[in-house]
Amino acid sequence: MKILFLDQSGKPGGAELCLIDIAKPYRDNCLVGLFADGDFRTLLEKNHIPVQVLSTKSIQVRKESSFAQGLASLGQLLPLLAKVVQTARKYDLIYANTQKALVVGAIASFLSDRPLVYHLHDILSPEHFSQTNRRIAVTVANRASLVIANSQASKTAFIEAGGRANITAVVYNGFDSKNYQIDESMIHQTRQELGQEGKFLVGHFSRLAPWKGQHILIEALRQCPQEVTAVLVGDALFGEQEYVQKLHQQIVTLGLENRVKFLGFRSDIPQLMSACDLIVHTSTAAEPFGRVIVEAMLCGKPVIAAKAGGAVELVEHGVNGFLVTPGESQELAQVISTCLQESSKTAKIASHARTTASQRFDVTNINQQIAELLAKLHQRVRQ
Ligand code: UDP
Ligand code: GLC
Repeated sequence: MKILFLDQSGKPGGAELCLIDIAKPYRDNCLVGLFADGDFRTLLEKNHIPVQVLSTKSIQVRKESSFAQGLASLGQLLPLLAKVVQTARKYDLIYANTQKALVVGAIASFLSDRPLVYHLHDILSPEHFSQTNRRIAVTVANRASLVIANSQASKTAFIEAGGRANITAVVYNGFDSKNYQIDESMIHQTRQELGQEGKFLVGHFSRLAPWKGQHILIEALRQCPQEVTAVLVGDALFGEQEYVQKLHQQIVTLGLENRVKFLGFRSDIPQLMSACDLIVHTSTAAEPFGRVIVEAMLCGKPVIAAKAGGAVELVEHGVNGFLVTPGESQELAQVISTCLQESSKTAKIASHARTTASQRFDVTNINQQIAELLAKLHQRVRQ
């Protein structure tokens, strides 16, 4: 089966990192078409996945866009659309991985007579998207032959927003657990590089964005014992510079300059996670899936996650990690302190999480689930 994958982003966010694993088995028979150039293209090339940047201009529709703004941006879409339609004719199926890719993919699917699959990585709820955005996404997604939701939470929100349940299946992100096995000498070296020996190092791994809640960790840190320090790994991928300034300001105001470090965007996540004592996830709005939660488990590290959305499907409190109320820094501080004090109990939970996560999110198994869904769809459209 020849697949044309479409993704609007040139930047490697979670949806894009997920797509790398999905496209890999099809690398001899697929193309990833991007609507913007960037590091994501380079990553695909490194993984020997054919990639082409189909547009040189990025499309200016934002989560909060109005209908009129949406229409105005159509002018930018036409040359891109023409290219996608022409390309799609050489493939059996269009697989849209983001919302703008969905809109372009749906029109191209109609014009090229190719079935459309939509991989839904978002929770289509009012806390994440404007009504216009949700309406467009759901109306267009309902024309797809198959919607793959990255969690039950994403599927439920899709259906609540008017999405068709009978075309929707849940498939979690897959991971190769080997990539998260880091040897002791490397862990020691990374820890030295971070200059955090003798500290209880908490890692936060996410793009810097208000809803990812880095400010909640900083606030919590103030209420933790002095030996607790933090690294914030990730960058503002979508222009959230104002939030970055606010975080720096918050650190100065609270006098935490010596206890928080920003590392920027990194591509050595398994090494860095393995060098931490604890990983926290602090999203203040429901997380659709939360790759970092699973990655922490695969590194054998205890993880505290914000109790909402997909995170609740990944973590069972006290069994394979810990859950805290989103936005509650005091509660977070308490659980961090408990992890510090009850280290052997916490280590047992992390070790159990590593074993179960490596089975539950095994990339070969997850890819098999996707292959089966696509095969069924292929059969259906050929009948
Ligand atoms: N990540 C990365 N470098 C960074 C920060 C994050 O490669 O500096 C990766 C992280 O390991 C994870 C992904 O980015 O695989 C983020 O995915 P997640 O589902 O946690 O959140 P998203 O940003 O997609 O909402
Ligand atoms: C999106 C979501 C994130 C999810 C990722 C992969 O970026 O925000 O929660 O883990 O897609 O599905």
